[in-house]
Amino acid sequence: MKFISIKEAMKKGSGKVAVRGWIHRERGSNKMKFLVLRDASDIIQIVFDRKDFEGKWDDIDKLQVEASIMIEGVIKADKRAPTGFEIKASKLDIVGLSDKFPINKSLNEELLGDRRHLWIRSRKMTAIMKVRSTVMQSFRDYFREQGFYEFQSPVLIPGGAEEGPTMFELNYYGKKMYLAQTWQLYAEAATYGLEKIYGIGPTFRAEKSKTSRHLSEFWMAEMEVAWIGLDKLLDYAEGMTKYILKKVLKENKEELEILGRDVKKLNPSLKKKFPRITYDESLKLLSSKKKMKVKWGKDLRTVEEEKLMELFDTPVFVTHYPREVMAFYKPKDPDNPKTARCFDMLGPEGAGELIGGSERDINIKDMEKALKAKGEDLKDYKYYFEISKYGAIPHAGFGLGPERLIKWICGLDNVKDAIGFPRTMTRWYP
Ligand code: 4AD
Ligand code: MG
Repeated sequence: MKFISIKEAMKKGSGKVAVRGWIHRERGSNKMKFLVLRDASDIIQIVFDRKDFEGKWDDIDKLQVEASIMIEGVIKADKRAPTGFEIKASKLDIVGLSDKFPINKSLNEELLGDRRHLWIRSRKMTAIMKVRSTVMQSFRDYFREQGFYEFQSPVLIPGGAEEGPTMFELNYYGKKMYLAQTWQLYAEAATYGLEKIYGIGPTFRAEKSKTSRHLSEFWMAEMEVAWIGLDKLLDYAEGMTKYILKKVLKENKEELEILGRDVKKLNPSLKKKFPRITYDESLKLLSSKKKMKVKWGKDLRTVEEEKLMELFDTPVFVTHYPREVMAFYKPKDPDNPKTARCFDMLGPEGAGELIGGSERDINIKDMEKALKAKGEDLKDYKYYFEISKYGAIPHAGFGLGPERLIKWICGLDNVKDAIGFPRTMTRWYP
């Protein structure tokens, strides 16, 4: 018989089916055995009657959680079963026996982290990884549909990038190289040929932040476009966020249910326009509504972002941060040169910064000055400055942190659960 997925079997709903997977739960007596079988699609109850398996009963009795099996049997609806269907088994093949599975409800986060290679098959992690798959694909689809090309930048870089977070150094044939912190600088070069591009790639930051939203390895989803400014850039960021959200709500209903996510909280973000406020306005709101004073010129910290976002139920764009505390490539606003033509998109429900982006400076002198003020080595940026010497054009782009977006959409406590095998300051195994 041809194997079908558990979901397909339930869709069929009656008659003979063949399914395979792993034992999710087991219980029974010496007459009847009830297993819950799991595959990538769903779970289903399987019942074994001793009468039909007389010669095999000892083997069945010894089966432990996570053993892999293939079965044939007749499926029917049964309200008492966990997913509303049950298969009465007529044939069993044991594929791989399982030791006592070292995962149970009493494990704390640290132990689950040590056993991530096993925990990854849990229903919770599987649900999150399915949402993640939708997020990545719909990011690509959104830009594809608007005529963008996919572009990849190098992961090994000679130096110079997003100053601020430090870089991981590595030995490259005896020479120092670094792991990339952004796709952006190379992408800008490519924009001069392709004009509209996007990319998703691994990103590395040796940040000393032990927070629920910092990873040292994550995947940044970035885009870069020629001939646009800040307003149009924000339109893309909003359009993309709504597009991804809509796709997940449509394709991952079950997963969000498994995760216990209250999806009603996501509805305003689908329907309402995301507010656009300046950094100055955000300081005013913090002071008048939250009794929080921030000195002009300081970047917003997590606590301030969270307080500000208590006032909103959708993501919010905060634009025009003080130029001095921003990356060197964020250009000054001609109307207010102390500020930069940049934005962060902050998420509601304590999600924090989901996207960062800006127009790109093409004034080499200004950029050199900004880098020098930060103590950077200008020679690392030689190639980057050269781009602007040959037909410089206005352009802009942003980077989204998919793990943070997934954390928000799924309602997770920590960004670590939004990636298969997290890397942080304190977590690098397995
Ligand atoms: O704001 P960031 O640092 O922006 C850039 O790197 C730009 N070069 C992007 C661009 O314009 N092309 O990072 C962008 C996003 C953040 O908003 C955040 O969502 C995510 O990447 N991010 C992290 N996610 C997890 N762990 C970390 N340590 C992160 N650092 C940034
Ligand atoms: Mg940022």
